[in-house]
Amino acid sequence: MSSDLTVGGEEPPEVADDGVWLECIETGEQYAPFEGVRYRSDAGALLEVRYAEHPTFEEFSGEGVWRYDAALPVEREVTIDEGATPLYEVPRLEDEVGVESLRIKHEGMNPTGSFKDRGMTVGVGVARRLGVDRLACASTGNTSAALAAYGGRAGMETLVLLPAGKVAAGKIAQASLHGARILEVDDNFDTCLDIVQDLASRGEAYLLNSLNPFRLEGQKTIGFEILERHREEYGEFPDRIVLPVGNAGNTAALYKAFRELVASGALDEEDVPKLTGVQAEGAAPMVEAVENGWDEIERWEDVETRATAIRIGNPVNAPKALPGIRATGGTAVAVSDAEITDAQRALAGEGIGVEPASAASVAGLRKLRENGVVGSDERVVCLTTGHLLKDPDAAAAAGVEPESVPGETEGVLKHLDE
Ligand code: F0G
Repeated sequence: MSSDLTVGGEEPPEVADDGVWLECIETGEQYAPFEGVRYRSDAGALLEVRYAEHPTFEEFSGEGVWRYDAALPVEREVTIDEGATPLYEVPRLEDEVGVESLRIKHEGMNPTGSFKDRGMTVGVGVARRLGVDRLACASTGNTSAALAAYGGRAGMETLVLLPAGKVAAGKIAQASLHGARILEVDDNFDTCLDIVQDLASRGEAYLLNSLNPFRLEGQKTIGFEILERHREEYGEFPDRIVLPVGNAGNTAALYKAFRELVASGALDEEDVPKLTGVQAEGAAPMVEAVENGWDEIERWEDVETRATAIRIGNPVNAPKALPGIRATGGTAVAVSDAEITDAQRALAGEGIGVEPASAASVAGLRKLRENGVVGSDERVVCLTTGHLLKDPDAAAAAGVEPESVPGETEGVLKHLDE
């Protein structure tokens, strides 16, 4: 096996298609990437997309996700110009938190308002190459919005399974208008994912949850963008990337991005940012596993948090993400809903509108800075994963109350003076 911070380097196996293949993360067994539909290895473990060659930064050109096509398994085909999201400065929050520098990578600025678009532009492209006609996912909301949009763009039927009553309004509205069939399940997200995996294994639909290794390839580009842009602005890579964790797909994807850059020689092992995951206290199986030094997570049956996007008790990508957190010297931390709302307000105060799950990254950083795990000399990037408008109810509840005034100027002035 290769070192924990690099990947590949071997000759492509016979099953490879143009230098791309699928590999079991446990047994190393290899599979053809596009000959049939496969989500897990014969051993039942997660698959990873592997490449015979890994590009350096010099080989990237263009904008957005497809700037990185040399590190992706298919060509640009199903796209609505995803990626190239801002890396905002937040001077007041940086001062308050007390780190050398703090930047916010706002993935809410993607076309459907979350990072899921990066995964879908690749995943739906693969679906088209495989020749499937029906796509499906379980979702806490954002995946369903993105799948509906990209499925629609590709002219495919989409089916989404959502936990009834636990999905924010903006996300359902998106899935609905983009034309998905929405099935509301009277149970939590984890059960929705169990069902959709069953449907997929019976050939009913092509699964586009982050269990699908192709989706994570698109999400790797978050890591490429952060590293390139950070180095452009500060002359160095960030020390740490803090991100909210639900299914741990992004954590796994960023780890893979780093390993591939190490493999190509574009990134030194000692410069790999520390992957730092944040969960809500009411849904924190990854934090539990990291704190206890476990190799696997234990599924939480009862989960609750106002950050509905990360209301997840069985993070399916944990076997990819836990090694990433460890190998990069990162950690994981849980935050309360009140801390999430405070962080959401702090970001909004600097003009950055995010949904609750996204603010978990900043809430987690605050906590780790307070308890000394994060040092004052660190350059940190927090990932904010979804836009404020995704969850208008949470935003209104966290924001200021509208005030009623009479319909004439004198009355308004009087009210303002009160
Ligand atoms: N932030 C937001 C806004 C999300 O929607 C999600 C996941 C996460 C963070 C967690 O990311 O799974 O890669 O650790 N949302 C999924 C969905 C589960 O269905 O939309 P992860």
